[in-house]
This record gives sequence, C-alpha cells and structure tokens, in this order.
Amino acid sequence: VPSLSRRNPLERYFRTNRGRQIYKWTHYFEVYHRHLARYRHKSITLVEFGVYQGGSLQMWRRYFGRRARIWGVDINPDCKQFIDDPGICVRIGDQEDRDFLRALITEIGPIDVVIDDGGHTMAQQLATFDVVYPAVRPGGVYLVEDVQSSYSEQYGGGLRKRGTFMERAKRLTDQLNAWHAQDDRLRVTRFTRTTRSMHFYDGMVVFEKDRVRRPRTAKTGTPSWS
Ligand SMILES: C[S@@+](CC[C@H](N)C(=O)[O-])C[C@H]1O[C@@H](n2cnc3c(N)ncnc32)[C@H](O)[C@@H]1O
Repeated sequence: VPSLSRRNPLERYFRTNRGRQIYKWTHYFEVYHRHLARYRHKSITLVEFGVYQGGSLQMWRRYFGRRARIWGVDINPDCKQFIDDPGICVRIGDQEDRDFLRALITEIGPIDVVIDDGGHTMAQQLATFDVVYPAVRPGGVYLVEDVQSSYSEQYGGGLRKRGTFMERAKRLTDQLNAWHAQDDRLRVTRFTRTTRSMHFYDGMVVFEKDRVRRPRTAKTGTPSWS
C-alpha cells in the first residue's frame, strides 16, 4: 500500500509552496488529509484561527476548491492585508474573547471545518472550543493543533494539570460513553449527542461531529445453538 504522504495533495502543495508562507508541523498533513479529504470540492465553510503569513488560507483554498468559504481569524492587525486574497475572508480579533467569538459565529453561520492554530494557550483553546464547537454542523470536524501546549508551563499547561485543554479532552472521552454510565456523575450531554468520535495524535486532537443516537445492538445470521 503506498504511504498516505505520497498521495497527499496537501503535503505536495506544502512542499512546493511558492505562495505566502505556511508554518505547520510536517506530520499534520497526514492527519489533515485523513479527516478533511471528504470535504474537498464541496460548498463547505472552513474557519482557521491563526492566519500568520496567510499561506495556510491559500493552501485550504486550493485543497478544498472554489466552492469552499475560507475564513481566517487572527489577533494581529497585519493580517488584514489578506482580506483581499481571492476567496478568503479574514477577521481580526482575540480567540480568547468570548464576545468576539459569539459575534464571529453569528456572522459566519454554521461551520463545517474548524482548525485552531492560533496562540495555543489554555484560555485560547478552551474559549474557542466552548463557543465555536456548538456552531460546527453535524458531519463537521474540529481540529485543535499544538495541544502539546497542555504540557508546557509557558502556555498555562503542566502534566495532568487541571484546566488544560488536554485534561478537558480526556474528560470528554468519558462523555462519548455516557450512554452506558452507571454513575450519576456521567450523563448524556449535548456533546454526547453531537460527537461521533475523538482522535488523538501527537500535538493534535480531532473531534468529528454527527447526530448521535442511543446505541443499540442487533443480531443477524443463524444461531448455532438455541
Ligand atoms: C502558528 S501561527 C499560525 C500559522 C498558520 N495557520 C499557518 O499554518 O501558516 C499562530 C498565529 O496565531 C495568532 N494568534 C496568537 N494569539 C492569538 C489570539 N489570542 N487570537 C487570535 N490569533 C492569535 C498569531 O498572531 C499567529 O499569526
């Protein structure tokens, strides 16, 4: 089986990029393509927090095609210059500011793909997740990058420290199984009803959304004994 990276158009784009600068961990391309390929050439809405030099927005534009709406959000006013890039919308604001985020999702409407590649502090990742995750459509995906910041004091992290993004994500894995809970502390929530799966990678957590119903078992085939 050929390795995924050899067939990965995003990785090819990154390696031959002559457009604006892109700044990514190279092992993210496999993760992106695995979770994002199904949205290519569809009328999707993507929001990336962290515009930097504008190169990743150009990359998403090319990868997803002309029908995609591509939004970038950054705290740095210099990023306003990318507002004129074809097919790209940029908003300037702080991803830690919940009022800004609420206004943003009202303006954008339902979202299919979120990529949080902003400032990576605990407060930023958590505020963005709290406000923006509910705005992601069923069938959508939410990627949080550089979650190694949860282990770094500089970003407000620390191993198994309360209040880090990774501790939150680990707790949410219980929520996926809340249908089967035998303990009042674990209840079916909106997260349980709207999250199909969570995926953990080096430096990244991916949430896939869906309409999730109470799981049920079924039997098919002929029994071998009665
Ligand atoms: C790692 S760079 C983004 C890289 C870009 N996505 C790429 O792939 O080329 C991080 C960006 O997050 C922005 N940023 C930092 N703190 C932020 C905040 N509180 N709100 C929004 N953006 C922030 C920085 O200005 C910087 O441009």
